[in-house]
Amino acid sequence: MILSTRQFGFSYPVQVKYGCGLSKRIHEQASQLKKRRVIVVSDRGIEKAGLLDPIVASLNRAAVRVSLFTGVESDPGGELCDEVAALAGGNCEDLFFVAVGGGSVIDTVKAAVVTAAHGGNTLDYQRGGREIVKSCPPYLAIPTTAGTGAEVSPYAVISDHSAQKKVVLASPQLWPQYALLDPELTLGLPRRVTAETGMDALTNAIEAYTSTDTDPFAQAIALKGAAMIGKWLRKAAAQPQNLEARSNMLVASMLGGLSFDYAGLGAVHACSHPLGAHFSLSHGLATALMLPAVMDFNRSACPELYKDIALALGADITGMDLFEAAGAAVRAVRNLIRDLEMPQSLRELGIPKGELPLLARESMQERANLCTNPRVPDEAQMIAIFQRAYAGECRVNKGREI
Ligand SMILES: [Fe+2]
Repeated sequence: MILSTRQFGFSYPVQVKYGCGLSKRIHEQASQLKKRRVIVVSDRGIEKAGLLDPIVASLNRAAVRVSLFTGVESDPGGELCDEVAALAGGNCEDLFFVAVGGGSVIDTVKAAVVTAAHGGNTLDYQRGGREIVKSCPPYLAIPTTAGTGAEVSPYAVISDHSAQKKVVLASPQLWPQYALLDPELTLGLPRRVTAETGMDALTNAIEAYTSTDTDPFAQAIALKGAAMIGKWLRKAAAQPQNLEARSNMLVASMLGGLSFDYAGLGAVHACSHPLGAHFSLSHGLATALMLPAVMDFNRSACPELYKDIALALGADITGMDLFEAAGAAVRAVRNLIRDLEMPQSLRELGIPKGELPLLARESMQERANLCTNPRVPDEAQMIAIFQRAYAGECRVNKGREI
């Protein structure tokens, strides 16, 4: 990044509050909104775990009428968002939403507030479609996973199941009024979910740090987020009740989300959307599968930045030249994925090798993410990236480029 040729700035419309037990005092924020009706949106797992009861009890203290919808599933489709929007009953005046869950729940609410305010169908409002012009009902985001950073971003990723693709809604109207980060809600999260969501958070931070649209503010946030994940993700996965690990991961994922708000993302996200859409992989798993191969492809474009990431992840780069030190970042990520006992290749998941050209072609259409990747691949290079991810190999440290 050549700073003398750049312009950037920052302001932030979301009130972020962090603290153990904060969600049990949600009435403090709810009262500020001065609305009389609330729709709490979540999923059945969170309901069964009893996480909603204290939140609903607190909302009752704010003297608002509470309705509950707990039917969100992973990778929400447009129809589900329409269903949630319909709960508004065509009257958004006196209404706010509360999203309690991971990225799927928060994104569902983002899409639902748009559709509730504008009418029509959720998928109409994807990027490039109908404009989001009206002000939408406010909502509070309460994340229960440490991953997407959806609680601090104005984007929603929604599945168009009939077209087998994911679409993005983007508007300042999608920002929540409040993001309440309560690490106690993430205690006990299963190892697999912790690992996958944590790898999404790390991908967000790495892609924001190396984006062609990054700036010192975004980089400072992204690098801190990556370092916290490098230090705490293994422990959070291995010790589900470790509150210190959970707290660090929840803040780190918020930092990852905040950094990509400013800087954008990159090729890992471009690849992960078709991969997730065609093979029903969670977003976190799809990013983890693609991250080492994309980093290895990118490192020649910005080795200094990858060296920073290697150091943030605790790698020892003594005696290495710059390109090797950049490769150490790739190796640190591969080691993390291995330690988390996650799948390490597309092959391991049974994804047919013959589908790689299709996945590469669809990834090349994800221009919003690709345009900020530090090295823009052509289609043949994209196929090579998928082949690396398929084989699960990265010949890091040997100076060989794709
Ligand atoms: Fe992500």
